[in-house]
Amino acid sequence: MNITKKILFVTSEVHPLIKTGGLADISGSLPKALAELGEDVRIIMPNYQAIKTTEDIRYLSTIHVNNCAVNILETKLPGNGVIVWLVDFPAFFNFPGNPYVDEHGKPWANSAERFALFCRVAVEVAMNRSYLDWKPDIVHCNDWQSGLVPALLSLEYSRPATVFTIHNMAYQGIFPRTTYQSLNLPGQLWNPGGVEFHDMLSFLKGGLIFADRITTVSPTYAKEIQTAEFGYGLEGVLSHRKHFLSGITNGIDCDHWNPETDSNIVQTYSHTTLAKKLANKTALQERLSLPVDKNIPLFGLISRLVEQKGIDLILECLPEMLSHPLQFVLLGSGNKGYEQRLHNFAEAHPDKISITIGYDETLAHLIEAGSDIFLMPSRFEPCGLNQIYSQRYGTLPIVRKTGGLADTVIDTLPETLSNNTATGFVFNEANAGTLMEAIKRSLILYGHPKTWKQLQINGMKRDYSWNKSAHQYLTLYNHL
Ligand code: ADP
Ligand code: GLC
Repeated sequence: MNITKKILFVTSEVHPLIKTGGLADISGSLPKALAELGEDVRIIMPNYQAIKTTEDIRYLSTIHVNNCAVNILETKLPGNGVIVWLVDFPAFFNFPGNPYVDEHGKPWANSAERFALFCRVAVEVAMNRSYLDWKPDIVHCNDWQSGLVPALLSLEYSRPATVFTIHNMAYQGIFPRTTYQSLNLPGQLWNPGGVEFHDMLSFLKGGLIFADRITTVSPTYAKEIQTAEFGYGLEGVLSHRKHFLSGITNGIDCDHWNPETDSNIVQTYSHTTLAKKLANKTALQERLSLPVDKNIPLFGLISRLVEQKGIDLILECLPEMLSHPLQFVLLGSGNKGYEQRLHNFAEAHPDKISITIGYDETLAHLIEAGSDIFLMPSRFEPCGLNQIYSQRYGTLPIVRKTGGLADTVIDTLPETLSNNTATGFVFNEANAGTLMEAIKRSLILYGHPKTWKQLQINGMKRDYSWNKSAHQYLTLYNHL
């Protein structure tokens, strides 16, 4: 029998309150899925100035941690009522910017202080010392910003069980030893079997060493991070803990990313009314001032513009792509060098390329609905969500065989074509030549509308909901 568990979900971003990437999507949708399964879930996150919500925010309590008076506020996730506790400390969080960078894109100089305080408060809440009259059975932490929570909880008597989910090993929260000292953290944690990493403080290591269970967001990434190529020097720690490490593929919020009901797109559709998808392509071409042409293959890409995402491979392919009849639309922001080079291409080829630098939720949905093909040539990808959204929107993804991309896209091969499992195009090596081969494969198949439609239907009919994965998390919680 399944007894209701109390779960404290610790995260640095939650959609729709604040989002920089996939972590926010998961932090909004997994707790919702767990709540729908009857679990008692509360999210805890910092009270950033940039949080946007339609729900009320109310004061709950004030606690003192490390000589700081911190308020705990309560709100709910719009639309589904999951409770969110906001860690309110204006001296740290009441500034314009996002969770990691200021309004000019500069990383917060006091990142360590901000997230160490956040972790300490999460520990107080987890130990029911915050006047909230609620003690979790499970504290589920996510990424380095919450890494000190399992570490600090390991020092407590009669503590809740801890789960630490790695969404991205590339971000570790590493700071100098002097920061550790100034943070006033317990000396017992400072050793190579603790949060010390080559004489530096590693928040991530706090999660990897001390959590009762470690998960990552796809089974393939769980294996990859145990190798030197993907482990960033922590592969040894992970291999050592491999019996406590597993991969659970992310689900998606099927209400928010649903082509049948999406209010961000101009025409809703399903796998039985695929012809209607075209209206979104037309709207996208009009909105981005590209020639309106229903027959030309339209490639889309939405991403943080960072090395992880293989943007350099796209830049290398663009000259050859331009020799084919196609259009390419990109929405993203990040590395200024990439932004500039992409802009140059768009300026030289305004009839074929459109680059939008920035963050635009509505446009992201329209690109998913209006494109024919979605590009995601990541060098590594813990899970990836856009390739899943793409399949749901009948937009065939081209992905590199890594991490969650390898686990969620089925390559188009004679066998997968004939048994109707193919959902996209997968290539192996992280180089422009193999990406270009995959692009050419997609262009050939685009010329066979009947086959193309079958691929779209294959992808759209797959189950991407949290159903299976939320149960996997529950099984994990129940083992603790
Ligand atoms: P990551 O978390 O590594 O950035 P994911 O594929 O897991 O990659 O998730 C990215 C999420 O962020 C998706 O929901 C995607 O649509 C969204 N996103 C990324 N860049 C932008 C942007 N410029 N505008 C709108 N949404 C974006
Ligand atoms: C990270 C990863 C991405 C994953 C997301 C949500 O940002 O880069 O692959 O989908 O977290 O788990």
